[in-house]
Amino acid sequence: MDRIKITGGRPLEGIIPISGAKNAALPLMIASILTRETLTLHNVPRLSDVRLLMRILGNHGVDAAISGKRLGQSEESGETITLSARDIVDTTAPYELVSRMRASFWVIAPMLARMGEARVSLPGGCAIGTRPVDLLLMALEKLGSEIEIDSGYVIAKAPKGLKGGMIDFPKVTVGGTHVALMAASLADGTTIINNAAREPEITDLAECLIKMGAKIEGAGTSQIVIEGVARLDGAHHAVLPDRIETGTYAIAVAMTGGNVLLEGARADLLQNALDHLEKAGATISVEPTGLRVSRAPGLLAPVDITTEPFPGFPTDLQAQFMALMTRASGPSRIHETIFENRFMHVQELARLGAQIKLEGDVAIVKGQSRLKGAPVMATDLRASVSLIVAALVAEGTTTVNRVYHLDRGFEALEKKLGRCGADIERISGEG
Ligand code: EPZ
Repeated sequence: MDRIKITGGRPLEGIIPISGAKNAALPLMIASILTRETLTLHNVPRLSDVRLLMRILGNHGVDAAISGKRLGQSEESGETITLSARDIVDTTAPYELVSRMRASFWVIAPMLARMGEARVSLPGGCAIGTRPVDLLLMALEKLGSEIEIDSGYVIAKAPKGLKGGMIDFPKVTVGGTHVALMAASLADGTTIINNAAREPEITDLAECLIKMGAKIEGAGTSQIVIEGVARLDGAHHAVLPDRIETGTYAIAVAMTGGNVLLEGARADLLQNALDHLEKAGATISVEPTGLRVSRAPGLLAPVDITTEPFPGFPTDLQAQFMALMTRASGPSRIHETIFENRFMHVQELARLGAQIKLEGDVAIVKGQSRLKGAPVMATDLRASVSLIVAALVAEGTTTVNRVYHLDRGFEALEKKLGRCGADIERISGEG
């Protein structure tokens, strides 16, 4: 198992290219099941989650291939992946695969819409909370599917095809909205999704489905209307830039000081987080090729945050912002409202010297902590990267174990930070 070793204390200076968004690439790849034609995705990040999903889709009969490099492409250019689901050979998604990546549960929607049946393992527990799938199943039922749960598997059937319907989500769900969008695109008649998630990754999926021939209006708002079509075609689509990767590096620069251009980043994808970062003391400017982030040396201002569905502060940046606040000039409150157990990083940040008190779904960060390097490990992707952010300013050396969490969602993290002056290296092998 690889580890990452960081010696803190260096400001970040230079350019960090922003990759395609993991959380857009995954549902886009899954949408390939909706058509017999080839879906070509550009700007796909090189991540272990993408590789694993290629395997999972392959199990259903999807031919997934990574195209070779093209003229003018650099190491930073994302990959082009072609996905052809000409014949679906297996409508079962087994526990061994779904339990390794929750998002793969979403194959249930295109499979059901196209094949009239799907048998998908329930994903099980997860490091950040219970994360049920009841709302995803409710959406499929509203579209006329019969759902049964047997021996840990969801068996969904719609032998005569799905029918358009009214889906009112009692709570905003990204996965639920993805599933409803994909299923409704091939349903007979009109579907209205109320209280839909407005995350940019939803809009990206809708734009790709529209290129494939779907009739969708209102993606990016809380009401989406879909007029089902009989078949979808192939398309080309470029994955949007990763707003969580952007926010993470912006926080890292605010933490270390320095000046970095986040190449390809788009401010509109994370305006709320950028506003909070500016309040904390970062300077952010939009440039023709991306976002520039800088901070003069000195203490950061304490800033409270509350995580919310888009366009609010993203839960996927909560851990990183908490790491930043350990260095603020006073106390701050971090309120997590999306997942009930997303504070697993608190104990690991404490190993680096952070003083954080938990009160239910609120973390009170003391601020002005002197961070000192230590061996740490984390239980999920965003928690792991919060330790990297802290380690960048900690005195001495921090070793982050279980780097496979980082490899799920951050492309070439040590290279991107290393090129901007961080003292960071990956140590391969047992750990
Ligand atoms: C997506 O997860 C992201 N994953 C998560 O990113 C992200 O944290 C989350 O959205 C919120 O923004 C991907 O896009 C692959 P939800 P998802 O359905 O779709 C509850 C990362 O680190 N809920 O919006 O699973 C749920 O428990 C990951 O990249 C139900 O109660 O999240 C949570 O409290 C982690 N019943 C809330 O809704 C359901 O059926 C929002 O979850 C579904 C969800």
